Amino acid sequence: MIVAKAPATSANLGPGFDVIGVALDLAYDEVEVEVMDGEGVEIELEGIETTQIPKDPEKNSAGLVAREVLRRGRVKTHLKIRIKKGVPQGVGLGSSAASASATAVAVARALGLSLSTSELIEIASQGEIASSGVAHADNVAPSILGGFVAILSYSPLVVEKFMPPEHLEFALAIPKNLKKTTERARAVLPKNIGLREHVEAMASYSMLLTGIVRGDLKLIGKAMSSDAIVEVARAKLYPGFLKAKEAAIKAGALGATLSGAGPTIIAATDARQGNSWGVAEAMKKAYEEEGVECLIAVCKPRVEGVEVFEK
Ligand code: HSE
Repeated sequence: MIVAKAPATSANLGPGFDVIGVALDLAYDEVEVEVMDGEGVEIELEGIETTQIPKDPEKNSAGLVAREVLRRGRVKTHLKIRIKKGVPQGVGLGSSAASASATAVAVARALGLSLSTSELIEIASQGEIASSGVAHADNVAPSILGGFVAILSYSPLVVEKFMPPEHLEFALAIPKNLKKTTERARAVLPKNIGLREHVEAMASYSMLLTGIVRGDLKLIGKAMSSDAIVEVARAKLYPGFLKAKEAAIKAGALGATLSGAGPTIIAATDARQGNSWGVAEAMKKAYEEEGVECLIAVCKPRVEGVEVFEK
């Protein structure tokens, strides 16, 4: 049996909507694949918060991915896929992407197909259709590769991995009762933006990439805080978000934004300052003042992506 383990991720990082994400050393989904006689895809689920996840392979991100690998490999067989969920669902931490990434890598290995990394990312991104309606790659790419991954082109898919700076840490506030669907969180976004806004957004994204390339934590944090398009539109969905973001900055975060489509807030901190838990507590307090209960966590970026092994 082939097993793959893929990490949680945080996409967008402020100005990089759909084009950048980072792997988190926080939580993992594990996917076991067995190749059996017959034809079809069968999904089994265990682990945390599995009740809302459909087992129908047409509606499940891992199911869509497994079918796509079979299609590309022109293989007809029966795949039994057991997903052990460790990444919480519906909170903006790349839960469906972790399942999709682990499935793409595990199924390709189980079938003996040698697919390129770009192909695996492209296939895994098809799994996102199940949760968001769109095949975006900004969670699956870092889940597969680790580190920060920027999408340089969608068609054809070209990505670039950047190593995370050594002292970068993230504080997270993860609301318990504000679950959303990514599809809905995309429906509130503006269909068009003005040229001026576009220029500002490009500058913010350039700041983010410059910060990552230079290993400049302050620049990364400042850029993460600076999105004026997507975050502004989504803030309305999450009562307390703007206050919690402000509280993070007051507590010494270098910057903060919605993780993916939210409602989790991801704040960048410098591990040398030793204030990451203080930042997380400050966000929790602010969210809870608005009646939003939170879990908090502190983690580092994860350097490696998906791991695959035989069991
Ligand atoms: N880029 C995607 C979005 C990430 O913001 O909708 C979803 O996790």
